[in-house]
Amino acid sequence: MKVRIFPSPGTAARALALDIARRVSLDPRLVLGLPTGRTSIPLYDELVALSRSRVIDFSHVTTFNLDEFLGLSADDPRSYHAFMRQHLFDHVNLSPRRTHLLNGAARDVAGECARFERAIARAGGIDFMVLGLGGNGHIGFNEPNRWLVTPTHRTRLSASTRRANAFLFGHRSGVPREALSMGMGTILQARRIVLLVTGRSKASAVRRVLSGQLTTRLPASFLQLHRDVEVWLDEAAASLVSSS
Ligand code: GLP
Repeated sequence: MKVRIFPSPGTAARALALDIARRVSLDPRLVLGLPTGRTSIPLYDELVALSRSRVIDFSHVTTFNLDEFLGLSADDPRSYHAFMRQHLFDHVNLSPRRTHLLNGAARDVAGECARFERAIARAGGIDFMVLGLGGNGHIGFNEPNRWLVTPTHRTRLSASTRRANAFLFGHRSGVPREALSMGMGTILQARRIVLLVTGRSKASAVRRVLSGQLTTRLPASFLQLHRDVEVWLDEAAASLVSSS
């Protein structure tokens, strides 16, 4: 996997936003896969800035978000829907009918996951998937387990993931116990993937992702099987990666 190391989270976010802008200018109908979480906020800030200065035009772009908490509707302020509106959708010219998120409040959860997979297929697949990394090695909400699931599915959140998302809910006990997530297969079918990781707290997970070993205990390690994946790090996240 190609690794790029940037001096700070801000410089990594800026470079990734410019890379996305360049790809959208080459293909205005680009299909993007998007993460949530704190790592992605500087990226969305940069994309909003590029949109305001007309460097990027989102009007024909399609987006699919990785995951959503089970039981939360789109208008719940703690949902990833709300996160995306707050940090990106409300500030750029993305068409609402081209932004896709899983509905955490769907009554038919299996039907919702199947609908999401069909929508991705109808869009022609995901061209460019941006991923964040959980401190436990998850991508989307594909948590470390004895097995991983290929398609979009309902999943149980680990204690550490619920802790990491407590900032949205005030306290860990308020974080839903389950979520919906794109599956490992859905993610690995994207044509190009960038894993964006910043901060010292992720350094150990990053070292394991780049170890050359695959394990379902570290879902992001499966990215090593993809032919067009890059890992973009700030210096803190790269601090345990050997330079050899
Ligand atoms: C969250 C999300 C992921 C995200 C990751 C990292 O729980 N489900 O999509 O990439 O964990 O989050 P953060 O950037 O806040 O560390």
